[in-house]
Amino acid sequence: SSVFAGAAHAAEFPTKAINMVVPFAAGGPTDNVARSLAEAMRPALGQTVVVENKGGAGGTIGTANVARAAPDGYTILLMHIGFSTAPSLYKNPNYDAFKSFEPIGLVVDVPMTIIARSDFPPNNVTELVDYVKKNKDKVSLANAGIGAASHLCGTMLNSALGVDLLTVPYGGTAPAMNDLLGKQVDLLCDQTTNTTQHITGKKVKAYAVTSLQRVPTLPDLPTMDESGFKGFQVGIWHGMWVPKNTPQPVVDKLVSALQKGLADPKFQERMRGLGAEVLAEQANPKALTDKVAQQVPQWAELFKKAGVQAQ
Ligand code: MLT
Repeated sequence: SSVFAGAAHAAEFPTKAINMVVPFAAGGPTDNVARSLAEAMRPALGQTVVVENKGGAGGTIGTANVARAAPDGYTILLMHIGFSTAPSLYKNPNYDAFKSFEPIGLVVDVPMTIIARSDFPPNNVTELVDYVKKNKDKVSLANAGIGAASHLCGTMLNSALGVDLLTVPYGGTAPAMNDLLGKQVDLLCDQTTNTTQHITGKKVKAYAVTSLQRVPTLPDLPTMDESGFKGFQVGIWHGMWVPKNTPQPVVDKLVSALQKGLADPKFQERMRGLGAEVLAEQANPKALTDKVAQQVPQWAELFKKAGVQAQ
């Protein structure tokens, strides 16, 4: 019977390569985490983990894609906080954040940095606030689409500055960063897993970090909180999911492989160098379930206050 076959299949899982879907363009912060994690999980799985980039609509297209995949453990989703903002921003994202997936666990938490093209006039947060307010109809803000982490931070920035900047959406913040480096767009709020190299390489102007504590790898960057925006804080947590109805032994195997991957010293070193915190203690289904349950209403509240409607 299919139940028996399912059990047999689950017992020897995985017998072929696994696809890890990243719902943003290659080369961006989510992709950077995914590729390092795929490598770190390989030994425990005994199979390669192939990263597939499926960008668009703030990550909801790739997420919906995984919701529809066969529940056999061979398609896994690496997504972040956008998983919990999408319910407030998309009337029909083609999946249900609470019903379409089995959670595997939390992965990393990544702070964000507010950066600009290298010739943007303001030189610090105070000057940035004045400049943006005076030029609010001219300043452009890049993001990775409605529902992306960069969109969430941009919404918080607009609210904090009392402006509604022209937004330029991209398939991920890798292409957004290319345009920022090319001085085609003015501002971007993006994760340290993408911005660290450009900040330390002085290829962009950096104003602040969005964590309440300064980021050790970017010690000269003040927090938004200490720069006069009390309580301005957003950390981009990342999680791993598989489609609903994936057999429990397969879920268990993936949870164990995730935990071993997060314990990998090379993975930990790489994440530390990019300012990311590895959530090894929360790499389990319950922690991710609780996180989503807490985050969906939290961000719904923020978007309501900011007057952002679902589309
Ligand atoms: C975002 O949400 O801004 C994405 O993480 C950007 C990306 O990973 O490309």
